Amino acid sequence: MKIGICGCGAFSACFVTLFRAHPLVDEVVLADIEAERTAQMADANDIKRRVDGFDELLKTDVDAIAIFTQRQLHGPMAVAAMRAGKHVYSAVPMGISIQEIEAIVKTAAETKKLYMMGETSYYYPCTIFCRGKFQSGEMGKFVYAEAQYHHDMQHMYKSFQRSGGDDWRKLAGLPPMYYPTHSTSMILSCTGAHATEVSCMGYSDSHEDGIFRAGANYWDNVFSNESALMRTSDGGVIRVNEMRRIGWRSPVDSVYMNFYGELSSYEQTALNQCYAHRDLDKPAEDVSDLMKLSTSLERHGYVAELEKNSSHDFYSGVAKVHDTARLPEVYRKLANGHSGSHQFLVDDFVTALHNSTLPPCHAWSSARWNIPGLVAHESAKQGGVKLTIPDLGDVPADYPFKNAD
Ligand SMILES: NC(=O)c1ccc[n+]([C@@H]2O[C@H](COP(=O)([O-])OP(=O)(O)OC[C@H]3O[C@@H](n4cnc5c(N)ncnc54)[C@H](O)[C@@H]3O)[C@@H](O)[C@H]2O)c1
Repeated sequence: MKIGICGCGAFSACFVTLFRAHPLVDEVVLADIEAERTAQMADANDIKRRVDGFDELLKTDVDAIAIFTQRQLHGPMAVAAMRAGKHVYSAVPMGISIQEIEAIVKTAAETKKLYMMGETSYYYPCTIFCRGKFQSGEMGKFVYAEAQYHHDMQHMYKSFQRSGGDDWRKLAGLPPMYYPTHSTSMILSCTGAHATEVSCMGYSDSHEDGIFRAGANYWDNVFSNESALMRTSDGGVIRVNEMRRIGWRSPVDSVYMNFYGELSSYEQTALNQCYAHRDLDKPAEDVSDLMKLSTSLERHGYVAELEKNSSHDFYSGVAKVHDTARLPEVYRKLANGHSGSHQFLVDDFVTALHNSTLPPCHAWSSARWNIPGLVAHESAKQGGVKLTIPDLGDVPADYPFKNAD
């Protein structure tokens, strides 16, 4: 298959190598509106074909387009790509309005094209651990969970400035709950439930950088932090924090959770993980070792050059809970990122296309992780009023991508 990479910025640099190295991928084509970025990425990865941007990429013979453009561009691009006959992989978020997400789900159903959102949290060690325990029945009925994504705006200035020019603040002021899927997917991908109602409170920002101010960003957004309480379809409750102004620099992960069942629970701080039981005879277990991210050296006897000098986010190793045996052998010598998720994301997308299987982060599950945040921000704007979260339902029976047996 041929894959087009749309957006040759910082994040796609981690993925282009993985797409190119995957044994089921024949060719990778690059596209960016900034020609020097495309050229640099092409040279670094020995890629021959490059085009001037998304519109040109649509006209090529690629089977799928992987979208790595700025946050507010994903939704319309995903729809246009599917209408042009391409399958779609998209960096998060899926979209920044309910209408955009509805359009993606409708287009995927109509065109029968594969849509997958690249949700890194789905493959985080804690998510894999809790999903396994919960789905085995060991944790009992779901009670409550809390997940958070803490990322201080001052650590993101450069990232927004890279493509934002003088207007970078307008995008940086995105309502935190418009980027909710790292947190929501951690919990909801374990339980399989969806959020039904939400009440959210916002923290009105007063920082001198002036990013979160009425009139300063595309959304007139004044909140730099938002905290939401949601009811879920299985009768549980979840708390989601999206913090963009917080005196915090994660030593390991900026996204993590606590997850409580009627029979057992998982509790995590940034530095360690504990699995505890209701049964008084069962001692609480320190499960940190299962989640610890090894370097490639520890795991595979090899250190990718990139990994030696780069940040955890873009070049992490893997943990014991990761089933690396299912990955292509060639990946053992390549960098991973975001707690071991990058290689699984690429492999799930490519394998799904090859086998017509349904990847876990498909359009319908992604909608259920993204829409709650959009409604939460609406609630915050109205002082925390409880709002109903629309549900776009399950994968239609005639969708050609099916769960693997
Ligand atoms: N953990 C995660 O899931 C995670 C982490 C980091 C970034 N991201 C997401 O990845 C995306 C990209 O982030 P980034 O930091 O690489 O941004 P970036 O600004 O470095 O890169 C975006 C690139 O898209 C290009 N672009 C814009 N319009 C285009 C068009 N019409 N055709 C072709 N190219 C176009 C820009 O020129 C730029 O080079 C963001 O949406 C972000 O949300 C996700």
